[in-house]
Amino acid sequence: MSDVKDIALSEKGKKKIDWAWQFMPVLQSLQKEFNEEKPLKGLRIGACLHVTTETANLMRVLKAGGAQVSLCASNPLSTQDDTAASLVHDFDVEVFAINGEDRDVYYQHLNQVLDFKPQITMDDGADLVSLLHQERPEQLDEVMGSSEETTTGVIRLKAMANEGKLRIPVVAVNDSATKYMFDNRYGTGQSTIDGILRATNKLLAGSVFVVCGYGWCGRGIAMRAKGMGAIVTVCEVDSIRALEAAMDGFSVNCLSKAISQADVVVTSTGNKHVVDEEHFTQAKDAVILANAGHFDVEINKVALERLSKRVIEVRDGVTLYELKDGKKIYLLTEGRLVNLAAAAGHPAEVMDMSFANQALAAKYFIDHQGKLEGKVYRLPQEIDDDIARLKLKAMGIEIDKLTAEQEKYLKSWREGT
Ligand code: ADE
Repeated sequence: MSDVKDIALSEKGKKKIDWAWQFMPVLQSLQKEFNEEKPLKGLRIGACLHVTTETANLMRVLKAGGAQVSLCASNPLSTQDDTAASLVHDFDVEVFAINGEDRDVYYQHLNQVLDFKPQITMDDGADLVSLLHQERPEQLDEVMGSSEETTTGVIRLKAMANEGKLRIPVVAVNDSATKYMFDNRYGTGQSTIDGILRATNKLLAGSVFVVCGYGWCGRGIAMRAKGMGAIVTVCEVDSIRALEAAMDGFSVNCLSKAISQADVVVTSTGNKHVVDEEHFTQAKDAVILANAGHFDVEINKVALERLSKRVIEVRDGVTLYELKDGKKIYLLTEGRLVNLAAAAGHPAEVMDMSFANQALAAKYFIDHQGKLEGKVYRLPQEIDDDIARLKLKAMGIEIDKLTAEQEKYLKSWREGT
């Protein structure tokens, strides 16, 4: 059983999945290994991820490992309906995801994945784990573990662990260096700019571009906006990150001051109401607001609606909020992840490494069955190193090796000035 928009879209979806596959060499080598060793044989995996071509290729690898997979969307606006159709038609994956689904259908789909009684879950934002703990705790004993894709999800899961509420082991895929340094920075950097441009077709050169949050994602967005010729200001609450942004060459300011000059404001903080009522009133006419953080709470939409006399969609994914004094504020993709709702998400080259971590996290749960507790774990450093090595090899890049003399030197302390 599945619930997708239109199974007839599968042919188009299959071509797009195959397009992405050629740029995912690490997943290709894992597919080969999984095909031979079948480490996930007979296992039921329930995944709540953005239903994209890259995710489809992760599903392909899990299937090669012998798993049965049930997939739902981790965001109501990120599903690629043709990809969803192809997963059902060509890859024997159960999918519950329709682009534009409302909140009720979104949760109905999560519940349908849990009806499949998964033994391992995969999350992007921790909605599946949260639902399991809050509404279906009787299933927790059957779950070996869950892997989490994103910063926001890891923060939620660590909060659960700190309160002593997390009842299953979790692998924070996001905490692998081969994930956050590449997916969060270069993936979010490129795809966020892509989403803003697809939605608006605005020129970035010479525009004033404000980035809220200078974590790995914010760094990527700021770097790429600068590369397109925008004049970039960073807003941060953390002193060290703010200092880093300043020394990376960005102007740093508080949002209440920066917003009056901004042409574009992008949030990427993981927090709520970062752009709030006071900012809407101070903003320049025709400012464009977009969010690249996981949830749609970073821009206070309720306050924006309350301050507006008119709200209309003026282009696909662009909503005009006309304030009572006539000022125009444009909100992209309802304040949801602009890179997935207005563009196609991160490119395959970085998702290759993120999803290699996901596939290996599933294997990790099998290999460590019964040995893990209700905590948040990182994958071992060797796995991170292996993924990096495979990626470098696929990119045709050779690196140096330490000589025996150098290895010895690094372990010694006697030799000095
Ligand atoms: N998150 C960001 N980009 C993504 C993509 N292309 N596929 C799945 N999850 C993503």
